[in-house]
Amino acid sequence: MPSTVVNPGLEGIVVGETVLSNVEGEVGRLTYRGYDIHDLAERANYEEVVHLLLFGRLPTHEELDALNARLAARRALPNGLLAMMHAIPRDAWPMDVLRTGVSAIAHFVPHRPDGSHETSVDTAIDLIAKVPTIVATWDRMRRRLEPIAPDPKLTTAANFLYMRTGEQPIPEAEKALDTYLILLADHSYNASTFSARVTASTGADIYCSITAAVATLAGDLHGGAPSKVMTMLEEIGLPEKAEPYVRDLLARHEKIMGMGHREYKIRDPRAAQLEQMAKNLTEKSHTKWYLIARALEDASQTVLHEQKPGKRIYANVEFYTAPTLSSLGIPSDEFTCMFACGRISGWAAHVLEQFAHNRLIRPQATYVGPDVHPYEPIAQRHAQPGPNGNGAATPATG
Ligand code: COA
Repeated sequence: MPSTVVNPGLEGIVVGETVLSNVEGEVGRLTYRGYDIHDLAERANYEEVVHLLLFGRLPTHEELDALNARLAARRALPNGLLAMMHAIPRDAWPMDVLRTGVSAIAHFVPHRPDGSHETSVDTAIDLIAKVPTIVATWDRMRRRLEPIAPDPKLTTAANFLYMRTGEQPIPEAEKALDTYLILLADHSYNASTFSARVTASTGADIYCSITAAVATLAGDLHGGAPSKVMTMLEEIGLPEKAEPYVRDLLARHEKIMGMGHREYKIRDPRAAQLEQMAKNLTEKSHTKWYLIARALEDASQTVLHEQKPGKRIYANVEFYTAPTLSSLGIPSDEFTCMFACGRISGWAAHVLEQFAHNRLIRPQATYVGPDVHPYEPIAQRHAQPGPNGNGAATPATG
């Protein structure tokens, strides 16, 4: 009999402390180091938030200028990494390329793995600067266009849009992307951040930790959701088709992507900011995505209330990300990479925090396999279904 409570999704389990962000799921509040996300989204820019997360407070003018200069100086990708990316098949999923790219940076950027805080901060800034460049560069390469070098005079948001198109973005587009990056920057011990912290806790360096985070972000239940939201919006096509679509989806026992959250039991606070941005941008770009998304949210609330009463499933951050990013001209299979462009600052800050107060993260599992039994010599073994129902026994993991 198991002697402990087993909680496979770690739901409600507190595994550590952080000063970086606080998710108050019952009241729908998100704060970074005590600042409400709405204040930051409306009044700060992304680089100020990077400073807040990495250095513990909002910057002065001089500190912000210094951080901007450091980021601008680190944006360009090393030639070795560009050559490696050129060798990747053009139809590779952008998120796979980002994972490979982040891992590969370590080979090409001179760094001293001396474990000092200063070196880790420097690497963090390098990664925060280069992740958007990898995404924009792959966006061009996959379209068989020459990559565009970063422009040091531009902000992270404006430079990203410039590197995709070669044109300076309109102020509304820059502001929208800047706000998106702020909203996505951190979210306590979410799955990808937890992965980064687990990796950092073993003494692995920041490149390993961020590579683990990027890999964890890729799944549909985490950063992969907004692309799936876009697929739903495309399939729905017209606002009036939203309700029958939701009914069909739930009849097939499928989930409405961009809805529901482990922590938020009311609407995700980031959804309000993103909805407003999606509305403004789609009005400017004359696209229909916001209207369909709005109809889908309404229909989802009606049908979920009817079919899953009491489950408290509301729009999460991913829902209005889809019409927002789409209106910025970003293709839906790059949405998860955009999430990474913002979250890289939170991941990096969490890795630094883990390094500063490290204890190896190593949970336990309750063993539910066979009792101890004798070893069978190979001649006495018979083929039989493995424990997961397939032909061969599943290999054990260490
Ligand atoms: N659509 C329909 N039903 C949903 C739902 C959704 N988006 N999210 C949760 N539910 C339902 C489940 O079907 C389940 O119902 P049941 O008890 O009748 O079987 C119940 O709510 C609990 O869901 P569960 O998946 O166990 O909760 P969780 O805490 O693990 O879920 C998510 C959190 C995010 C994984 C889940 O809401 C989800 O898969 N959402 C869609 C993907 C998404 O948007 N991910 C991005 C998250 S930021």
